[in-house]
This record gives sequence, C-alpha cells and structure tokens, in this order.
Amino acid sequence: MNNLRHLMSPLDFSTEELDKLFDLANDIEKNPAKYAHLCDGKILATCFYEPSTRTRLSFESAMYNLGGNVLGFSDAGSSSAAKGESVSDTIRTVSCFADICAMRHPKEGAPMVAASKSSIPVINAGDGGHQHPTQTLTDLLTIRSLKGRLDNFTIGLCGDLKFGRTVHSLINALIRYENITFIFISPEELKVPDYITDMLKDKGIAYEEVISLENCMPKLDLLYMTRVQRERFFNEEDYVRLKDFYILTKAKMQLAKEDMLVLHPLPRVNEISVEVDDDPRAVYFKQVQYGMYVRMALIATLLGLA
Ligand code: NCD
Repeated sequence: MNNLRHLMSPLDFSTEELDKLFDLANDIEKNPAKYAHLCDGKILATCFYEPSTRTRLSFESAMYNLGGNVLGFSDAGSSSAAKGESVSDTIRTVSCFADICAMRHPKEGAPMVAASKSSIPVINAGDGGHQHPTQTLTDLLTIRSLKGRLDNFTIGLCGDLKFGRTVHSLINALIRYENITFIFISPEELKVPDYITDMLKDKGIAYEEVISLENCMPKLDLLYMTRVQRERFFNEEDYVRLKDFYILTKAKMQLAKEDMLVLHPLPRVNEISVEVDDDPRAVYFKQVQYGMYVRMALIATLLGLA
C-alpha cells in the first residue's frame, strides 16, 4: 500500500507527469483497441454525493472502455450517508469492493478525508467550491491537443469565478506554465477569491480583473466560460440578478481572434447562446470527449497499469 496514489489537486502531478498522462490519453484516443482490456477484472466505485452528468458518466465510460466494471451511487440520499455514516467509514467499506474510487462531495476537503482512510486510490471528482482536478486535466488535455501547447497564451475566465471550482483548479494548474496571462471577467460579486489573486501577486503572474467581456475579447487566445453556481448562493435573488450577466453570442464571437478557443466545463445554462455551438472555435463538446480519454489515462496510471 506504500505506493498508493490519490488525485486531490491538479498539482499532485508534476508537469512532466502530466505530459506523460496527456501523451497516454492521446494514444488511447488514437488506438482504443490497445487499451480495451487493460482493466479487466478491476472495479471503479463512483461515490457521488452531489449531482453530476459528465464527470460521473465519463468516469464510468472510461472504466468500461478499459475493460473494467463500475459500481457506486449517484445520490447521497441513496447511500448510508443518509443514515449519518461518515465518508471515512464509507471509503473503508468501498475499499473492500473496488480497486479505485472517484468521489464528489459538496463539502470542501471530504475526498481528502476519504483518501486518508482509504486502501485504494481516491480521485477527487469535485469538492464543494474548492477543486475539480479531473475537469482541469480535461481542460489541459483539450488545450494541449487543440493548441499544441500549454504555455504562452492569454486566457479569459468568465462568469462565476467566486464559486466555480473548475476555475480555481484550472488557475492553480496553469500557473506552472510559462507566460500565461489571466483575464478574470466577472461581476463585482463573483470575483475570484483573494487567496488566488494573492498567490498570483506573490508569484509575479500577470492578471487583470474586468467586468466587460466585449472589451477583452480581441486579446484572448482562450475563453473559459462558466455558469453561475446557483447551488452555492445564499439567496435566490442574488442568483436571479447575476445569472444572465454574461451571454456569449455570435456577435461577440466576431470580436475574437480567428483561432481563439471557447471552453466550458458544462453544464451550460444561458451563458453561451446555442447559436455559438456551430462556430468551429466552440470546443466544449470536444472537451467532454477529451474528459473521457484523460480519465482512462488517469485510472490506468493510478492503478499502476500504464
Ligand atoms: C462542473 C462542476 O461540477 O464543477 N461541471 C463538471 O464537472 N463538468 C461545472 C459546473 O457545475 O458548473
């Protein structure tokens, strides 16, 4: 058990390890048959205490495509959490049934607590407003595959930068690459937390905080759109007031570079008009596909099979 490795934050892998992981994901994409039996006889548990479509299904699809099997729950109400069981006890139980576990939880840090008690690798599949490392791996693989690099670009992150865990995770991961400029586009109430801007200042990394999406559109190489995180708001009025603050339309896309990419972790609510979906720069559904390949690569790596 000494070699047991978990994934809690994108920083748990060095940039060299990430390169290896992304090479593997690209190879899986090209040669799926080569990996179809890699996880024969292995079981992935998906323990989801919070709603999910893409993350849970892409983990499950990833494991099936590796020849493994899947068990788990998609709703805390249908697990013993409803009876008051702790995540520590749940993971000890799950460790008896599965070889690896992906866990999503509304409480920040819950997957870390689980990992500390687990005898199988635990993957943080999103913990409250904190981190979402496998979405970040998805985002990085998408950028690397479509742009050919993970350095030297200006990225705009737009929407709910306060509660959006995908944003927090992605910023954390990108600061390790050369010459990245961040433009944070949000209303005053949904600004990126101070701990992130303090860290950027400390490290001398360039960032701007702006309200207008239109004004910064021409500068961007990447635009990362996010939805307003309704479930993390304290009151519904604030949500209603802020939910349609940004809507990316065809007209706004005309202000952008010809090779700018639009990413979104999804689910989309209103923040990208469906008319943008046909624009070749809109890559959010490709991103979903990359999410499955990177999860295949991650499962294989954490199980020591890659
Ligand atoms: C994100 C999440 O759950 O944080 N979705 C995802 O996993 N792809 C983003 C969101 O819910 O807005």
